[in-house]
Amino acid sequence: MADVDHQRPRLDRTALEQLLAGLTAVRGGDFSTRLAPAGDPLIDEIAAVFNGMTEQLDQFTAEVTRVAREVGTEGKLGGQAHVPGVSGTWRDLTESVNAMAANLTAQVRNIAQVATAVARGDLTQKIEVDARGEILELKTTINTMLDQLSSFAAEATLLAAQKQDIEAKNAEISQAREETEERARQLALASQYKSQFLANMSHELRTPLNSLLILARLLAQNPGHNLTARQVEYANVIHSAGSDLLQLVNDILDLSKVEAGRMDVHAERFAVRALVEDLQATFGPLTAEKGLEFRASIEASAPAELVTDRQRLRQVLGNLLSNAVKFTERGRVTLRVTASRDEDAAVAFSVTDTGIGIAAENLATIFGAFQQGDGTLSRRYGGTGLGLSIASEVTALLGGRISTDSELGRGSTFTLWLPGSRGSTRCSPPWSAG
Ligand SMILES: Nc1ncnc2c1ncn2[C@@H]1O[C@H](COP(=O)(O)OP(=O)(O)OP(=O)(O)O)[C@@H](O)[C@H]1O
Ligand SMILES: [Mg+2]
Repeated sequence: MADVDHQRPRLDRTALEQLLAGLTAVRGGDFSTRLAPAGDPLIDEIAAVFNGMTEQLDQFTAEVTRVAREVGTEGKLGGQAHVPGVSGTWRDLTESVNAMAANLTAQVRNIAQVATAVARGDLTQKIEVDARGEILELKTTINTMLDQLSSFAAEATLLAAQKQDIEAKNAEISQAREETEERARQLALASQYKSQFLANMSHELRTPLNSLLILARLLAQNPGHNLTARQVEYANVIHSAGSDLLQLVNDILDLSKVEAGRMDVHAERFAVRALVEDLQATFGPLTAEKGLEFRASIEASAPAELVTDRQRLRQVLGNLLSNAVKFTERGRVTLRVTASRDEDAAVAFSVTDTGIGIAAENLATIFGAFQQGDGTLSRRYGGTGLGLSIASEVTALLGGRISTDSELGRGSTFTLWLPGSRGSTRCSPPWSAG
């Protein structure tokens, strides 16, 4: 027995000490130790295994460190650890590291790709990459954010389109308005030129016409007794036709003056009763001549005085009364002054007749210049259809308005509404005549 033991080579103590030092280094994380062969087969084998182990550990450490540095620090994605010839847990470890790196790479790249698309304005992309835990939360957050963004974007696009639409319409409207305004300006100008021309013409016509009238009257008076009866009659015809013509020219002059804005209003304070008596003096004889009754009255509550252009008011009432007389064959013509219950009018002058009346369809047109209720009537009653248009223009100038109420075949009432003036007193007691 002792012999056998004796024959076995003695363990090389130095080699064992070297091995121990190497192992201690490995335990301390240093894989750089390599063992040299010692000549003993067992020790050499141990040294070879130790060396292979430290070699692989070295490589593994280097690779994992590289991948971790690339992915974790340098931001270089896609790196993988390559450790040849590893097996078992070493291989599992390597694969885990690689899987981690690959997952991280895929996730970060997918997020980057979607972010790039968003930056380019493409909101249709989504993060599709497999993820769990916090990365899954990030993925869900980003995808939700993308959904919201794209619905905002859709809304914004819609709003922008609507805004553009509205802007286009506004542009159209303002262009149309400008055109309309331009046309209105031109029209106003044209109508002003026309009115001025008419006003000047009428004025120029009156001077020769007046001397013509004076001369015709002189002729008709036949002061030298050298004209025949027929010649005197002709002179009278010239005078009466000329008078009609003068009336027409005066009417046109009035209308043109109003239209050209050149008719002035001279307001004065006067008694309503004096005006009515004046009208009665003119129209009483006219109605009597036609066999008509004429009545004038002033209601107790009507203002006793008015402040307005007396002459213009008289002109309007004169037009209404002469129409009433002209278009009435029998019955009566009435002028009534009443207090107005209207808010914007203080006094109302109504001219009522029992004449031919006006058809409803003609009521709207009779206030137009040269408009007569019924074309066939003009031959029978004469006139040019200027009276009411002058009346309504002048009334507007006085701040009032005219309303009409008529029944065909029964008669008409034209009412002139005028605004009051402060300090006007009421007429009391009531007054009537006729
Ligand atoms: N009181 C009335 N009764 C019936 N018809 C009327 C009456 N007043 C006016 N009209 C109708 O309204 C038309 C217009 O009246 P307006 O006073 O403007 O013209 P006119 O009397 O025909 O002519 P002018 O007044 O220029 O001599 C008349 O032609 C007539 O058809
Ligand atoms: Mg008339």
